[in-house]
Amino acid sequence: MTDIAGMRARNVTFWAQAAPGWIHHADRQDEYGRPLGAAALDRLRARPGERILDVGCGCGGTTAELAAAVAPTGAVVGLDLDESMVAAAAARFPSDRHPGLSFTAADIETAGTVAGAPFDAVFSRTALMLLADPVAGCSTIRRALRPGGRMAATVFRDGATSPWMHAVLLGAAPHLGPLAPMPAGDEPGPFAFADPERVKRILIEAGFEAVTVQPHDIALRAPDDPGTVAEWLIEIGPAGAAYRDAAPPRRAAARAGAARLLARFREPASGYRLTTGIWLITATAAP
Ligand SMILES: C[S@@+](CC[C@H](N)C(=O)[O-])C[C@H]1O[C@@H](n2cnc3c(N)ncnc32)[C@H](O)[C@@H]1O
Repeated sequence: MTDIAGMRARNVTFWAQAAPGWIHHADRQDEYGRPLGAAALDRLRARPGERILDVGCGCGGTTAELAAAVAPTGAVVGLDLDESMVAAAAARFPSDRHPGLSFTAADIETAGTVAGAPFDAVFSRTALMLLADPVAGCSTIRRALRPGGRMAATVFRDGATSPWMHAVLLGAAPHLGPLAPMPAGDEPGPFAFADPERVKRILIEAGFEAVTVQPHDIALRAPDDPGTVAEWLIEIGPAGAAYRDAAPPRRAAARAGAARLLARFREPASGYRLTTGIWLITATAAP
């Protein structure tokens, strides 16, 4: 399935199936996953009074962080494809306790316009590489920005720089039955933006200028026990839906399998240290 409509449908289905795992682990994702977006948050330099869009906001942790940065007069919109994650985000960060913060369910590729536009800035953490038609999605983002508005985003680099992802899948999958085929090459998926020149071409075609794509090596710190860390990483990954559908003995075997292959990322005193390669992307909306 390589046509754009087919890839888009696969993305919608994938996230509908992945959402329960992301919702279940939302607090853990906020805490342990923070390094995934920290460099882009720093680079965005959100200021009080600004209007900001968080694309592919998931369960809203980064959106709430941005809302605190633009308070008391600014506004932040978290946008995500999956309605259940948007609902979870709104429940975790209700607008009466987080003024200026709102969430909306939409596909950034087909949205046409984004409620709340124009924005001063756009943030996105590990979402843009999932777009079936990245030029279409990034064009919507550019149109949602005021001229000269800025974007700061992160995406994963190549698979070799995030070896724990393979460890989780290789350890868990044999216990969970057949999984959907993994994305190959440029197909939407965690490593679709591995080539920085392709990322630049996409953004320039979408109407951005001053595009930079810089490598960052980070480490996610997870001090939990092996079973908890294995379950978190299985549930937010491509085996998450099969894991939730599996009988308890198979789930236990999947956790143990993943934990065994994740053991080399565990340090006795501090717990897991999951090295991860990301690109830090910055760009400006052309006038
Ligand atoms: C890897 S998760 C990251 C979530 C969140 N940014 C975080 O870091 O915790 C990617 C998110 O992008 C969303 N997403 C994927 N394709 C999208 C699209 N076309 N439009 C809007 N959101 C999309 C998914 O639903 C998912 O929540």
